[in-house]
Amino acid sequence: MMIQTLRLTVLSSVLLSAAVMAADKPNVMILATGGTIAGTGATSTTTVGYTAAKVGVERLIEAVPELKNVANVKGEQVFQIASENMTNDHWLKLSKRVNELLAQRDVDGIVITHGTDTLEETAYFLNLTVKSKKPVVLVGAMRPSTAISADGPINLYNAVALASSKDAAGRGVLVSLNDQINAAREVTKTNTMTTDTFRSTDLGALGYMVSGKPVFYRGTARKHTTDSEFDISKLDKLPAVNVVYSYANATRTAIDAFVGAGDEGIVHAGTGNGSLSTPVKAALTEARKKGMIVVRSSRTGTGITARNGEANDDELDFVAADNLSPQKARILLMLGLTKTHDTKALQRMFMMY
Ligand code: DGL
Repeated sequence: MMIQTLRLTVLSSVLLSAAVMAADKPNVMILATGGTIAGTGATSTTTVGYTAAKVGVERLIEAVPELKNVANVKGEQVFQIASENMTNDHWLKLSKRVNELLAQRDVDGIVITHGTDTLEETAYFLNLTVKSKKPVVLVGAMRPSTAISADGPINLYNAVALASSKDAAGRGVLVSLNDQINAAREVTKTNTMTTDTFRSTDLGALGYMVSGKPVFYRGTARKHTTDSEFDISKLDKLPAVNVVYSYANATRTAIDAFVGAGDEGIVHAGTGNGSLSTPVKAALTEARKKGMIVVRSSRTGTGITARNGEANDDELDFVAADNLSPQKARILLMLGLTKTHDTKALQRMFMMY
């Protein structure tokens, strides 16, 4: 009889604590992928030359006990890599896992800890492939976890607080570091070292995190998440698309190499408004004639690469990248090529997402 009573007591306390957890705060999953936020340095003053992707997700969570004041958090180590090593395969796996978790009623939001080098690219890929309005927030750090004034813990706290906020729902994938909230489509890493590196240089931040509360001032106008036509659930690979960077005296060698490799598409990061030098234009024209899709973008970092501006896209049958950076134009072109090779349809996508 005593054993039975003990069992019932234990069971009721577990159920009660679960009910208190569930009723009291949102449930946020933290998916860890590596990067500096999980990095360790030789000393507390090492802010470059450290090792990324060393600390596991449980230790990241333990380092910020305040997380439990804003959400019930659970951690999952999806990868443990420096983000320069992110690949299309990592993106497909991560997006499928995010969609699987967000389909669960007991998951209210997701935070993804990530290296800062390619964080903006992963964020944009998820912005186009996550099929939920629940908050998805990417976060990283510019100082390793072992450094004096490491920015990881406060960035992680803010990211979980943002992912716990109903006000963050339906805004697309968000990026939160340095007390700012930026849109996945527009944010980029602007500095190799400083904690204020993530900025939306063209259009500005969406808002700020103030003592763990989001304050929004605007939203992104382009389609994302549940309004996106892209579905990667049955894909196990993405079309090959690469970027060629332009500069004075650029040759056609790289373009010819990507054509030779059988790539389906190419993004040209042109000077100015996506200008094409004579040898580059000749190479891209030949590439198009062989069936490769060509997207003109700009290396400048802000502004629109306008259709029929520096090149006659109608005549060349090229696509203009609008104001997407070359690295994000590559992502949209890869996903666009999973649906069509028609350049008019692809141009529509570049004006929509
Ligand atoms: N190796 C870089 C990365 O994982 C470190 C930069 C960082 O995470 O801040 O993106």
